[in-house]
Amino acid sequence: MKASVVGSGYVGTTIAAALADLGHEVTAVDIDPDVVAAIEAGESPIEEPGVDELVARHSGHRLSATTDYDDIADTAVTILAVQTPAREDGAIDPSYVETAAESLGAVVGEDHVVAIKSTVIPDVLEERIDPLLGEATLAANPEFQREGSALEDFRNPHKIVIGSADEVAYERLETLYAGLIESADPAVVRTGLREAMMIKYANNAFLASKISLINDIGNVCKAYDVDTYEVADAIGLDPRIGSAFLRSGVGWGGSCFPKDTSALIHAAREQEYEPEMLAAAHAVNDRQPERLLSLLDEHVDVEGKRIAVLGLAFKPGTDDTRNTRAIPVIEGLRKRGASVVAYDPVATLAEEFPDLDHAASAAEALDGAHGAAVVTDWDEFAALDEEFDRMADPVVVDGRRVVERRDGITYEGLTW
Ligand code: UGA
Repeated sequence: MKASVVGSGYVGTTIAAALADLGHEVTAVDIDPDVVAAIEAGESPIEEPGVDELVARHSGHRLSATTDYDDIADTAVTILAVQTPAREDGAIDPSYVETAAESLGAVVGEDHVVAIKSTVIPDVLEERIDPLLGEATLAANPEFQREGSALEDFRNPHKIVIGSADEVAYERLETLYAGLIESADPAVVRTGLREAMMIKYANNAFLASKISLINDIGNVCKAYDVDTYEVADAIGLDPRIGSAFLRSGVGWGGSCFPKDTSALIHAAREQEYEPEMLAAAHAVNDRQPERLLSLLDEHVDVEGKRIAVLGLAFKPGTDDTRNTRAIPVIEGLRKRGASVVAYDPVATLAEEFPDLDHAASAAEALDGAHGAAVVTDWDEFAALDEEFDRMADPVVVDGRRVVERRDGITYEGLTW
């Protein structure tokens, strides 16, 4: 099938490359000429395991890229995967989706299905996006791909959700994903447009709330000297609870959970409903960084002291620092008058904190430090050992249960 993918971020590029790999003839569209040039040159514009290889294999054959919407007028389906940033008040900013929909609507005809991957509130989809698409048929086709395993998640979906008011959209997308449906055997959920978008919001809201709930319980466990991880392992055996997303610690960040839960809270309040559970999930998440620092306060007065922050990325395996818990941790340390030195294997916070001291290694960050706060669960932190001997005061507060307890250091786990 001739397919097009608008937006070449981590979701769009992964899908374009994976669809080409499934045998489709795919054109990627992006407004950034550098991104288009990279794909045309056989290079992935984003870092995702396995995607580089697929772009290199299919570029020039079944995968091409363009800035010109006219080039995709003859495709049968378009996947729209552009960003929906959050506004200050928590609502989403749908302007990128609207601009892309307008450009698409100008070139595609009646026999064309536009599947929206970008996450938008149902009213925005129906009232603002749909009218821009002209005669094309609208579908909502949310993604459940984690950053860092976007290709693996695309190839092994637990479900494919297709929302539409039109039979033709279900059939076209099921044909597009036929290879996946055959190999991975996911549930295919045919539903309405509004329901499809709410499934995406609810999926992320549920996962974020699950982490906040185990963090809330974890804070109680810590007060009673109980290891939350042992509790989580046992409750996770109950299939009604499940073991995934029960790693308690310094909380969730990234471009999805904070944005989608805020958008849902905002949307609820617009309808004069107060979503108490979602608001509480946010409140618990906001609290965790300060709780980590109060553990440090119990052992050192950080004012005027060198303190190491280990990990800046919002999770391991990425250099993405959007909404990383490292930001409030660094802010809290600076408020206390500490001199912060940070280390991450790939990420930096030079933009957010232009004067932040970035060390070249964990050992360098720990050298002479009077305390260390662990914010990201990079594997290499689990292997740290004699590096702690370089600390002036070997106090380690761990927000991710990644560092091993050992003799010679004062170790505090956030919820264990
Ligand atoms: C999340 C969802 O997991 C994807 O299904 C979804 O498609 C994606 O958002 C999206 O909406 O595009 P992602 O933000 O890439 O994916 O990251 P996750 O792996 O879900 O982690 C999110 C945050 O939760 C990280 O900060 C991580 O450290 C934290 N986390 C995760 C925990 O604190 N504990 C856990 O047990 C799991």
